[in-house]
Amino acid sequence: MNFAVIGHPIRHSLSPVMHHANFQALNREDTYCALNIDPKHFHHIKDIITEKRLDGFNVTIPYKIDIMKYCDEIDEAAQMIGAVNTVHIKNRKWYGYNTDGLGYLMSIESLLDDDMHILILGAGGASRAISYTLMHSHHVTVANRSLYRIKDWPFKVQSMTYNELSDLSQFDLVINTTPVGMTGFADQTMIQCDKLNKSCIVSDIIYTPEKTALLKQAELNKLKIINGLGMFVMQGAKSFEIWTGVRANKEAMTRAVQTALKGRK
Ligand code: ATR
Repeated sequence: MNFAVIGHPIRHSLSPVMHHANFQALNREDTYCALNIDPKHFHHIKDIITEKRLDGFNVTIPYKIDIMKYCDEIDEAAQMIGAVNTVHIKNRKWYGYNTDGLGYLMSIESLLDDDMHILILGAGGASRAISYTLMHSHHVTVANRSLYRIKDWPFKVQSMTYNELSDLSQFDLVINTTPVGMTGFADQTMIQCDKLNKSCIVSDIIYTPEKTALLKQAELNKLKIINGLGMFVMQGAKSFEIWTGVRANKEAMTRAVQTALKGRK
């Protein structure tokens, strides 16, 4: 089977390396390539993909919303999240999914208890995917610089600005979904980790650098930390499972991404 990831720019994507490792581990002869789609050609996306005879593809920045109007059907979670990162092509029909929230959940599942109080920093696409996925079994609070983005979400979560965040000790899990702390962005933190409960887990969806300022500060405060590598691998694994119905080899995928990241240092 043939797969791809579309985006712009796409040069640094680790998805091909990660998926190839999975195909190899499972003895499959699938292909997976990165397709850089110039925004001025995006309206030809149906023809571009059809010509490549793909069975499915991933969608990354900046096309996760734009791709939706080309899908014949969109699964309920992706509709609630308002973005599609996985398209499955069956009998020429395009089926849209979003595996970001589930990818996050799978990456942290072993650490979660029922009914946790979760604080999500940021209100962009990743926050919406994770909020929607976690809100079914946990209490989710979303904090952002302003609240205008959250008011349009088709589901309800508690929301507040960073200034309104008073009692940090109530949270069992904090998730940073903003680009703050990413290589090339400001190395600051939105919350003070010394105000968190000692049992609170601090996670970041960023994995370059391996430890953001937030994770370093949490570690200094002896809190359990987890970066975004697991989410990246799990969202990819979930896409593969949607396309093929076969269980992905997540260990091989994780190792491949870790090795590729080491090579970049
Ligand atoms: P994605 O879709 O990848 O999750 P996005 O839609 O670009 O990302 O959303 C970025 C999020 O990071 C937003 O919540 C944004 O906050 P605002 O709504 O206030 O703009 C947040 N963000 C970006 N830069 C930030 C910064 N310097 N400090 C705090 N939050 C920031």
